[in-house]
Amino acid sequence: MVDPIEKQWEENSKAYAELIGGEGTPHHQHILNPCVEKLLGDVSGKNLLDAGCGEGYLSRYYTEKGALVTGVDISGKLIEMCKSQSPGNVKYNVGNICDLDFIEDETFDLILCNLVLLNIPCFDDALKEFYRVLRFEGGLIFSIVHPAFNFYGPGKWEMGERDPETRRRTGLFFKADQYFEEKEYQGIWQTREGEKFPQPISFFHRTLSTYVNAVSEAGLKIVRIEEPRPMTEDKFFDRENRIPFFLVVKARKSFGSTT
Ligand SMILES: C[S@@+](CC[C@H](N)C(=O)[O-])C[C@H]1O[C@@H](n2cnc3c(N)ncnc32)[C@H](O)[C@@H]1O
Repeated sequence: MVDPIEKQWEENSKAYAELIGGEGTPHHQHILNPCVEKLLGDVSGKNLLDAGCGEGYLSRYYTEKGALVTGVDISGKLIEMCKSQSPGNVKYNVGNICDLDFIEDETFDLILCNLVLLNIPCFDDALKEFYRVLRFEGGLIFSIVHPAFNFYGPGKWEMGERDPETRRRTGLFFKADQYFEEKEYQGIWQTREGEKFPQPISFFHRTLSTYVNAVSEAGLKIVRIEEPRPMTEDKFFDRENRIPFFLVVKARKSFGSTT
């Protein structure tokens, strides 16, 4: 039986690559990626797992910065795109990050899991696998859409008129409801050209405490949590300057108890 999440990403692979455009969306470029890069620190010479690597732009970026990157994604089509665009020294595997049995224990210095855990039902298994394949003192950096203001889950902006300057609708206020109900939502994304993705995408809403406790139960110690703000004065990001869009967590595999 085909995994429904795998099917979504297989069928959306072309549209997703178009949306990413080889560099990430403006939200990625101006809000998320600088924060992730700061938390990763110096990647040079480090073994880095890009878990749920998509079309691979972050694998390529951190390879250029000197990391020895392995990219894993559930979508064979996205992994084909990764391979066709990357220098030969990046290793790519089609695989499920909730079961990394093709990777040996204590292989990586760093794991990057960028905007993936909210798209998978088995996020706690993924965290346990990350613990297993990390070396001691290795770091996990993962990002999600902020669970308290989850635009892809129970939350929504109440929108006003379209701003003629930014071409974006003004945010009046953010409505948050059903925060404690952990369930799957589905949404249809659009490409940069405004075309609908062929398949809806699943988003698994979870509370902040569910994420934090799962990291701890996997044996990892949280060392930093960031709610990154836009790195630009551009009025386009008015909404993201009022409430955080992303949440980024850095955790470490340390000796000793995490509780
Ligand atoms: C929102 S995209 C993020 C991709 C990439 N990390 C980025 O920042 O561009 C989510 C990715 O997770 C992948 N994915 C979903 N479930 C997965 C799983 N169980 N194992 C591995 N990859 C998975 C999808 O195929 C997709 O490429």
